[in-house]
Amino acid sequence: MKTVKLTINGKEVEAKAGTSVFEAAAQAGVFIPHYCYHPDLSVAGVCRMCVVEIEKTPRPQISCNTPVVEGMVVRTNTDKVKDQVKSTLELHLINHPLDCPICDKAGECKLQDFYSDYGLYQSRMEFDEKVHKPKAQDIGTIMLDSERCILCTRCVRFTHEVTKTDELGIFNRGDRSELRTYDHGPLKNDYTGNLADICPVGALTAKDFRFQCRVWFLEKTESICGMCARGCNTTVSVNPQTQNLYRVEPRRNPDVNKSWICDTGRWDFHYVYAESRVKTPLKKVAGVWREFTWHQAFAELAEEFKQPENLLVALSTQLTNEEIADCVQTFGVERMKQFTWVVDEKVVENRTPVDGILKHADLTGNALGFQKVFKTFGISWMRQADAVKLLQAGKVTRLLLLGLEGMHLPGAELLIKAAGSNVRVTAHASNRAPCLEEAEVLLPNTTSFEKSGHMVNALDFVQRLNAAIPPCYTSRNAHAVVFGIERGEDREPVSPSRERELTQKLGWEGKSP
Ligand code: SF4
Ligand code: SF4
Ligand code: FES
Repeated sequence: MKTVKLTINGKEVEAKAGTSVFEAAAQAGVFIPHYCYHPDLSVAGVCRMCVVEIEKTPRPQISCNTPVVEGMVVRTNTDKVKDQVKSTLELHLINHPLDCPICDKAGECKLQDFYSDYGLYQSRMEFDEKVHKPKAQDIGTIMLDSERCILCTRCVRFTHEVTKTDELGIFNRGDRSELRTYDHGPLKNDYTGNLADICPVGALTAKDFRFQCRVWFLEKTESICGMCARGCNTTVSVNPQTQNLYRVEPRRNPDVNKSWICDTGRWDFHYVYAESRVKTPLKKVAGVWREFTWHQAFAELAEEFKQPENLLVALSTQLTNEEIADCVQTFGVERMKQFTWVVDEKVVENRTPVDGILKHADLTGNALGFQKVFKTFGISWMRQADAVKLLQAGKVTRLLLLGLEGMHLPGAELLIKAAGSNVRVTAHASNRAPCLEEAEVLLPNTTSFEKSGHMVNALDFVQRLNAAIPPCYTSRNAHAVVFGIERGEDREPVSPSRERELTQKLGWEGKSP
């Protein structure tokens, strides 16, 4: 790799040839204000905020579009640079509505931030009327406020380069320039939420989060999305006062999801609070669901486990590595071998994104982890097709489905159908998906926002899932269920160290094996 040496603010820096001054500065820990630059989009060089002084160059240059050169001497903090940034800001703000008090971007808006850092001038727009543009335009999942737009073109480049749907463009000229969709219609891609993230101001805001909570009240947890095998890295925002989830956003990982997530991963978290949530253990008595206790459920299941040959345990690939290891270790190694997984192997084997961007056909997050944990313990699992045959042949009397999450459960549906009326089904599930109406017992499961552990994504990265909220209602994760079944009663809670011990036992935390 060819590198060049340059100096930034008196510090010697080595950067890859072809890197921009902006990126070389960022690598050296020097922040340069910017609007249009984005690490996962092409360079536009339109906002003029990222100017720096370069020795032997007469005027300040934009750093995002200037490549590094051997011996270059760069200064980012001179009075000349600060003056120019201030003037550029004044231009960006000249027609800005300044409606921060009702803008959802307030608190994380780059106009606010840079005005505090570099602006702090008195507006000269005392007598002139500002140019007005359409506000609060509904473009699908996003609201567009053209008046707040600073024309950085990040959103235009996103729909051109990432989703390749080209819904957005900038129309007209000069101070009449306006961002809008080509046909005034809605956005037509599955990644629209990213537009609200990349818009540096409040021109594009997500309807789902609009007027819900001020951002400064939110606490953030770094986690991963478990809604498909890609395992996009996320930041989950929660209001600690109410312990309510408000927002799921992408966390940049150039190797997994860059700066993006799909709209499903972003907005489907509402199933956590849906009416369909299984809130307490339920048992069907004479065709009607009745509340049941965890204690009764554990006592019953412990009895079933005394005759493991009558039992088929189906594990969801939404369980973490540690939960799967707990099930295998407790039920499998000595007592029984009748394990299967609740997925269609054909879907798991197809490891490329279905849309060429991120989304996978496998809508569970840990199929690879399932296989690796079983291999680590040296035991095999039944393929789903063989499990279906076993159920149809009446060779088992009880089916235990562990770790189901959400409303879309095609694998579980297949097994429940195959089980028919002769097999009693117990499902540990977060929500009452239609196929679970055939079950006999429902046990409330935590969602992936309520538990911690590791998962292995389709690219073979072992990634950490972190609980953003405590378990909702009376839900319990698979560790607690296994622990309860092992004892046959609802006694002491599971020790938090159990998960850590299993992580160590698996021995591949945070590695890409
Ligand atoms: S809407 Fe936002 S991202 Fe798009 S051009 Fe305007 S300021 Fe930039
Ligand atoms: S692509 Fe998959 S992992 Fe990524 S956000 Fe969407 S559902 Fe989640
Ligand atoms: S960030 Fe360089 S011109 Fe906008």
